[in-house]
Amino acid sequence: MSLIEWVDLPCFSEERGSVVIMEGARSIPFPIKRIYYLLHVPEDAVRGCHAHRSLQQVVVAMSGKCRLRLDNGRRQEDVWLDSPQRGLFIGPMVWREMHDFSRDCVLLAVASDYYKPEDYIVSHDEFLKCLT
Ligand code: TYD
Repeated sequence: MSLIEWVDLPCFSEERGSVVIMEGARSIPFPIKRIYYLLHVPEDAVRGCHAHRSLQQVVVAMSGKCRLRLDNGRRQEDVWLDSPQRGLFIGPMVWREMHDFSRDCVLLAVASDYYKPEDYIVSHDEFLKCLT
């Protein structure tokens, strides 16, 4: 089964522009406790490089694009985040890395919980051990 789980966000477009909607436990498949965004990321920088024990997130490129690599310990998949109308769901115990940020990329993340350092797994070896 693919690791790529898109979340199509309701969008109302007209000649005056577009409105895209995120609602917790509706278009976003969990109640939202935290929102943060990455911006001004240099093109050669790599972000992420961790997994979460229980956090659920949806990430959306509000502008620009970046490449996201997902890894569940058995397979890796790369996907471009390049649409403000389509998010990507990332569940627990999935290693994620973000590469190749365009200069104008603003990457929004909505999360199911507050920032908790203890929920992070920052070593890929430890991540693999936790899966067994
Ligand atoms: P981090 O999650 O390591 O960034 P990324 O995975 O995108 O490379 O976060 C970078 C720093 O910001 C780190 O010192 C922790 C801090 N931080 C918070 O305090 N609260 C948050 O909600 C997030 C996402 C990060």
